[in-house]
Amino acid sequence: MHQCSLFILILLCVSVRDISGSWEEWWTYDGISGPGFWGLINPQWSMCNKGRRQSPVNIEPDKLLFDPWLRDIQFDKHKVSGVLQNTGQSLVFRVEKDSKHQVNISGGPLSYRYQFEEIYFHYGMEDNRGSEHQIDHHTFPGEIQLYGFNKELYHNMSEAQHKSQGIVGISLMVQVGEPTNTDFRLITSAFNKVTYRGSSFPIKHLPLSSLLPNTQQYLTYEGSTTHPGCWETAVWIIFNKPIYISKQEMYALRQLMQGSQLTPKAPLGNNARPVQPLHHRTVRTNINFNKQGLQGSNNCPDMYRNMHYTANLAVALADDIITDSSLNITTVTTDKEVTTSLPEIN
Ligand SMILES: *[C@@H]1O[C@H](CO)[C@@H](O)[C@H](O)[C@H]1NC(C)=O
Ligand SMILES: *[C@@H]1O[C@H](CO)[C@@H](O)[C@H](O)[C@H]1NC(C)=O
Ligand SMILES: *[C@@H]1O[C@H](CO)[C@@H](O)[C@H](O)[C@H]1NC(C)=O
Repeated sequence: MHQCSLFILILLCVSVRDISGSWEEWWTYDGISGPGFWGLINPQWSMCNKGRRQSPVNIEPDKLLFDPWLRDIQFDKHKVSGVLQNTGQSLVFRVEKDSKHQVNISGGPLSYRYQFEEIYFHYGMEDNRGSEHQIDHHTFPGEIQLYGFNKELYHNMSEAQHKSQGIVGISLMVQVGEPTNTDFRLITSAFNKVTYRGSSFPIKHLPLSSLLPNTQQYLTYEGSTTHPGCWETAVWIIFNKPIYISKQEMYALRQLMQGSQLTPKAPLGNNARPVQPLHHRTVRTNINFNKQGLQGSNNCPDMYRNMHYTANLAVALADDIITDSSLNITTVTTDKEVTTSLPEIN
């Protein structure tokens, strides 16, 4: 009943706004068109409210499951061209449709070959918020998400996103700091060209693979797109190292607005969907904390151990459910810890 009248209220509100566009154009990150209402705004987005395998999530380091069968991620080295666009909800880079060389993404936890399609930029207006995924309830100033669609089963992103195993989301946590990657400037230098909703700027010859952090360590789980319609078709891969953008670049990003030049409305930042319940999903990792002798992580669940010890029920039970371990958060979040204490897995 409540939801019903709210829905009508929303409809009324829509009709007094400019309804020139489709549904897709007026959802937001706050208020009555914000994340809590995405599922009510449009029946096709009902998963946003009903789904139980939603993204983003908070990752609890002590519940990570080491999976020895996770492979390295294969990411084509070709450069791509496309368009950076302020959609009014996010900053999005979309690859050119008729690009000769598409960027394939495969390996890792992926059963299929995916084709890179777009990048979403999530960021906070302050450094203490911004990322969608959280690590042990820690939020990063930003999160860059590379989406690809399952090229083996589907024709394009719009078809794949609501089909089984349709998409991959690769998540890069963003820290403010000295950028180590000059290629990223191809994008950051265009921030001031896309200040208002609808504005766009072409970006040529972007070496996508070099935007990725220098690691093959990642966390992975099954979830949804973090924007409407929240389809539960995504395999998520979160790299175990942040990428860096400078204070100046972050400042430029925070100048972007949700509205047009005439009515700029609020800043575009703080465009993060709140974390969603995990509902007993497993978050796997290819980091074998035990083997690497990381201090304080002796209780991390480990499939090798579990397999070796299944004959001994008592030991298996003791190993099966680990509740009192607590990985040091910095092992999952900072460059320094990871590079100094963990060699690359290869
Ligand atoms: C991506 O995979 C397809 C199918 O295997 C292949 O034809 C194409 O050349 C690959 N793209 C690149 C850039 O290697
Ligand atoms: C995506 O592929 C489907 C199926 O081939 C097609 O009907 C649809 O028009 C395509 N959409 C876009 C945006 O190209
Ligand atoms: C986590 O690591 C940091 C930096 O190495 C250290 O200062 C801190 O004491 C550690 N915390 C715990 C709980 O081990």
